[in-house]
Amino acid sequence: MLIRTHTCGQLRDTNVGENIRLNGWVNSYRDHGNLIFIDLRDRYGVTQLVFDPDDGTDAALMAAADKLRNEDVVACEGVVRIRIGGENPKLASGKIEIVVKKLEVLNKTEPPPFLPEDIGNLPAEEFRSKYRYLDLRRPTMQKILGLRHKAYQATRRYFDQNGFLEVETPILYKSTPEGAREFLVPSRHLPGNFYALPQSPQLFKQILMVAGCDRYMQICRCFRDEDPRADRQAEFTQIDLEMSFVRRDQVMAMMEGFVRTLWKEVMGVEVPPLARMTYREAMERFGIDRPDTRYALESRDISSLAAKCDFGVFKDVLAKGQDRPQFNSKRGVVKAIHVPGGADKLTRKMTDGYTPFVKGFGAGGVATVKVNAQGAFETGIAKFLEPIREDLTRELNLKPGDAVLFVADLYAIATKAIGELRQVVARDLGLIPKSGAEGGPWNFLWVIDFPMFEKDKESNRWVAMHHPFTSPRDDQLEAFLAADVNDDDTIEGIVSAGYDIVLNGQEIAGGSVRIHDQAVQSKVFRLLGLTPEQAREKFSFLLEALAFGAPPHAGIAFGFDRLVMNFVGTTNIRDVIAFPKTQTGQDLMTGAPGVANEAQLRDVHVKSIPIEPKAEPKA
Ligand code: AMO
Repeated sequence: MLIRTHTCGQLRDTNVGENIRLNGWVNSYRDHGNLIFIDLRDRYGVTQLVFDPDDGTDAALMAAADKLRNEDVVACEGVVRIRIGGENPKLASGKIEIVVKKLEVLNKTEPPPFLPEDIGNLPAEEFRSKYRYLDLRRPTMQKILGLRHKAYQATRRYFDQNGFLEVETPILYKSTPEGAREFLVPSRHLPGNFYALPQSPQLFKQILMVAGCDRYMQICRCFRDEDPRADRQAEFTQIDLEMSFVRRDQVMAMMEGFVRTLWKEVMGVEVPPLARMTYREAMERFGIDRPDTRYALESRDISSLAAKCDFGVFKDVLAKGQDRPQFNSKRGVVKAIHVPGGADKLTRKMTDGYTPFVKGFGAGGVATVKVNAQGAFETGIAKFLEPIREDLTRELNLKPGDAVLFVADLYAIATKAIGELRQVVARDLGLIPKSGAEGGPWNFLWVIDFPMFEKDKESNRWVAMHHPFTSPRDDQLEAFLAADVNDDDTIEGIVSAGYDIVLNGQEIAGGSVRIHDQAVQSKVFRLLGLTPEQAREKFSFLLEALAFGAPPHAGIAFGFDRLVMNFVGTTNIRDVIAFPKTQTGQDLMTGAPGVANEAQLRDVHVKSIPIEPKAEPKA
């Protein structure tokens, strides 16, 4: 084989006259009668080969070149010369071409189902996934793999320089309480027992702190059997971190340093110090705990004004839960979004869709008013708002041509609905800027001071907002220990020492100061409805470890795939994972998951139960 001396992205006009060898794939083939041009491609780029009888290509070599087709794998030897047909400024090697003297076909390809090109319309993603190796040959995909690699290296460098120890934790594990459904693996040695794949190495990293590792990092795979979404996969990668003898501010400073280093090294971008926003402020202004601060459309609680108007829906809502604390989930509120220029920009078609949309989040609907040229309210609930028109105009700084959208409901429902609505309105009005990678803003934000617990709607039980090992904020510890587990309003108000990093409305990292005190941990378990026996059964190793000299510790995990999505500027997580899974968790190339045969099932003591056809709903 003609072993390469250079890659296809390497040769320049300084190499003219050199005898070189290249290996790669035929990217394109052009026959100009007396000349044959081949673009040869590898990971590093494309170089033009030319078969030129006037420059020594003999008839046999011309005949061999003539048989080459796209995606054949070839090796060649030749001489670098300045391109006779003029420079191609799109290629790094565009000034030169190789006059081929020897050609070796290393592997002839079958006609490929599609060509790995970024130009034109790509075939459907499902089809490409089946031939992922072809899809990954596309220069765009090679660039993504390259960016991902760069991010791995920059990550390891930063944490290594800061004294973090890279430790691998088990994949065959048992239940982890991150809240998602788990993937189970049956045990052959212990019939009826199952491993669970880790949703995250949360408990191992805490145990590593008890073990004196001081600073831990791992780029690890996590598994959550949830339905994939645009930025969620069942199998994904975290940068997992933990530190001992720190409180919240030390972890935040270390992680902020990481974000800034990563963006500098991978993207060449200087990230300014990260802004901080409390959970409460995020919910009040944006109706979501991961606000996209690149556009306004902020929401306002106008309950006290709304109480003075004549609209029955507002009045009914504002009769509920007014004796409860502010921001209590069960207190009635009226929320408004001011849409500058909305009188014209918000079409009937758009606003008609908003009520069904918020109903999906349990809210009753969306009320609207538009401000006309004279400053009067029109359409929707205009007439009911007349008594508060002037105050509302002042309060929201309304101008002629603006519109206001209202959602009235219990705090938890109205806030969620208005937060989701805000995003839809922003999309409808084209307010969402280009991604950072495409030259748009990079809006990073720390969100802090989350509540410790929230009520799960279905079970009506408390669940941990982050996870059950998150500590109350230092100044809340006493109140938490003293709180009556049945006093819902107090429990709801306890603030945790958790923190997330949000980038352009996406959660890219989440973490917390951990509980290192057994009494606090036991109380959390009790609140979450675990009896002491259940807590011991599930987490005895943790409770024991906490009793044997656990240092104060805290950590965080970054969603690595999401970081790369931002570097690439894609909204599809599958673009940044070499072998991703479909919406139904399938790998279309390998055919996973597959059926296990009888013998395999017997080995692991598992019986496969055929799915019962779904019962017809009763009339
Ligand atoms: P959390 O569950 O918030 O925290 O996860 C941390 C980060 O991982 C990313 N992420 C995901 N990315 C892709 N697909 C998914 N299904 C997915 N789920 C989460 C997000 C998220 O911010 N053990 C804690 C961390 C800690 O407390 O230290 C944990 O796993 O970017």
